[in-house]
This record gives sequence, structure tokens and C-alpha cells, in this order.
Amino acid sequence: MKNIVVGQSGGPTAVINSSVAGIYKRAKELGVEKVYGMVHGIEGFLNENIIDLDEYLNNDENYELLKRTPSAFLGSCRYKLPEIDGNEEVYEKIFKILEKNHIDALFYIGGNDSMDTIKMLSDYAKEHNKKEVFMGVPKTIDNDLPITDHCPGYGSAAKYIATSLKEIIRDNSSFDKTRQTVCIVEIMGRHAGWLTAAAALAKDDDCEGVDAIYLPEVDFNLDEFIKNIKDLAKKKSSIVIAVSEGVKTSDGKFVCELNDDDRKVDAFGHKQLSGCASTLASIVVKETGLKTRAIEFSTLQRAATHLASLTDINEAEMVGIKAIDAANDGKSGMMITLERKDYNGYTSTTGIYDIHNIANVEKKIPLEWIDTKNNQMTKEFIDYARPLIQGELLPIFKNGVPTHLVRK
Ligand code: F6P
Repeated sequence: MKNIVVGQSGGPTAVINSSVAGIYKRAKELGVEKVYGMVHGIEGFLNENIIDLDEYLNNDENYELLKRTPSAFLGSCRYKLPEIDGNEEVYEKIFKILEKNHIDALFYIGGNDSMDTIKMLSDYAKEHNKKEVFMGVPKTIDNDLPITDHCPGYGSAAKYIATSLKEIIRDNSSFDKTRQTVCIVEIMGRHAGWLTAAAALAKDDDCEGVDAIYLPEVDFNLDEFIKNIKDLAKKKSSIVIAVSEGVKTSDGKFVCELNDDDRKVDAFGHKQLSGCASTLASIVVKETGLKTRAIEFSTLQRAATHLASLTDINEAEMVGIKAIDAANDGKSGMMITLERKDYNGYTSTTGIYDIHNIANVEKKIPLEWIDTKNNQMTKEFIDYARPLIQGELLPIFKNGVPTHLVRK
């Protein structure tokens, strides 16, 4: 490979930049001349908005800093490539930019929607006998890519969620029954409950854990929810509930839409789903009169690199490295996957899979991992998720706060 290009797409994670780092490192080891970065994913690439990563990553200090930098260092996008038929000019433009810059391989770090870009580009290349190769690198806090055991980005978001919930539970338990407080915490994850389920990881010898967990995989029943809070309020002063932004009633309505249903929709048809906790909190106050707080983790859960999981950082770097190796072997139209090797002493390795079985497919939590009777997660989920949040990589502090690598 002479030159390559890497792009980041979709919602950022705390470790998405570690995959860029892995791609850069391995490409240079293999003698690749230029490692370009797309600024704002394929959308920016269409305007030939690319940078040379040598300007940023040619020393160990910046490499380490990149791994500790949240958000998409290269800039992200939510851009859907059009169908090939009837839109050939879009594809021709992309291939012209590739040829002009002597780029032999394109790497796209993203989730289900972003993998659609790799699918379309590799299909076009095959149909038109193009030599360039296209590799998907997994990333999503939602953990909903199929085939792979888990997704880089999930472990760190899960670690933040478990940690923050422990802290919230501590705080919420400060007062006695005269100051009973219900705290409803909203967690991202759109249509899959992996992130919200991570609330279960807060429970330990020193923490009673959350009182209930509501996931999008199970229909949300408002009457049962209120009844559960009233029952809990008879027994305890602190009530902490974890709820997914994507919970829906049995008629398919998002709970966050119960008060307003005028939602923005992105290029992939996904509604913006925030406001579920505040919607529920206002209903709880009305129905129970209890002091109620709504907390939305929102951006915090995917930007908390200061609390990232070292396992996650290492795996994000590893999928970047393996994507380069695969492209170097001539593979195209595929995504690197993570495989769990040993359940007891947790180790992982990588695999590789056809992008056609991955793009646009969402993996939900197995229903048998959800204890619907008690609104909790089963031991199977805990055993699956706990290893993914292990280890820490301390930020590099400057002026009292973590310092980051930023594009000029
Ligand atoms: O896809 C990742 C994700 O973080 C989802 O969990 C969330 O619903 C969505 O992105 C939010 O997207 P945006 O930041 O574009 O509003």
C-alpha cells in the first residue's frame, strides 16, 4: 500500500481515536508513505478535505495524547451514501479523489450506519473493477454491531455509566426518609439496551445498585413503572432508576415523545431521542408527589476519556492495527471483529467478517439476560460486561485538567 486514508463516522466514543492511532502505527510499520485523515468522514472526503497524519502523529508524545483524546479527532459526520444506481457521479468523485492522492486503501471507523459506507464503496469497486480496498473498523458506544462480541467504545461508556451511577446512588442516599428522592437517569443506546444494562455494574459490596433498569428490548408500561416507584417508596428513601433513551410503549411510541413528538431525524432516519428522563420525572412528580430528579448522561458518557477502560483502549487500537494487516493482505468489504477467547481470565482476539452481514444490522441484548420480573440484569450479562470495563489509562494533566490532541 502506498498511501491510505482513514475516516471517523457517527457518534464519537472515548476510544475512537485509539483506532486511528493503531491504523497510523501499523501503516507506518509496513512502510505506507502517507496516512491521510478525512476531516468529517466521507462527507468531508467528497470535498477533498484531508489531512496528513504525519503532521500530528510523528512523535510518541502525540500518539499517547491521541489515545487520551475524546471525540473524533478527525471530525465525524452522519452521511449516508446514496444508492449506486442513478448516483454514479458521487462514487466517481470519491474514486477520482482516491486516484489523485494515490490512495490504495480506505478505512472507516464507525457503527452500523457507517459500515454502510464501506459496503457501498466496496460494492462499487467490485462492479467497476477498481483496485482500491475498503475496510470497516468497529466503533460504537451502543455495542449493537452484529457478529463482533462487543464494540470498541462500549467498555469505556459502560465504565463511566457504572461509576457515575455508584456516585449518584451514594449522593441520593444521603438523606433519611423525610427527604425521599427519586432519581431517573437516562442513558444512550437508541434501539439496544447494552449501555443502559451497564447500570447493573454499579452494584458491588459497597453499593446496593440501581433499583430498576428499563431497556428498549422490553415494552415500557407506564402504569407498572409508576407502581414500581410507589412500591419502592414504601421501603426506601433513595430510589435510583436507569432508563434507556430508546424505551418505547407497546404501541411503538418513544417515551421521550410522550410530551412532545416533534423530533429531528438524521440521514439514516434515526430520531433524536433525548428527554426521556425528564418526561418520566414530570409524570412521577404528578403521580406520586415525590421529589424527583432527572439526569441525562448525554454526551458525557461517550466523551469521558478520563475514565476510559484500558481494555477498551487496547482493543480499539488493536482493531485499527488488524484492519491495516487485512487490507495489506488484499481484503476488502469486510469489518474487523472482536472475539472473546477466554471467559474466565478474559482475553480477546480479532476476526474479520463480510460487511454485507454487518451494515445496518442492530444487535440487541439477548432477552434471557434481562430479569424482567425485577427489572435487573442477569449474571450472564454481568459476566459478559464486567471484563470490558477493566483497567485505566491516566490522562495527561495540564493546568489541572486533562490535555488533548486537537486538529489545527
Ligand atoms: O450512535 C451512537 C449514539 O451515541 C447513540 O447512542 C445516540 O442515540 C446517538 O448517537 C446520539 O446522536 P447525536 O449525538 O448525533 O445526537
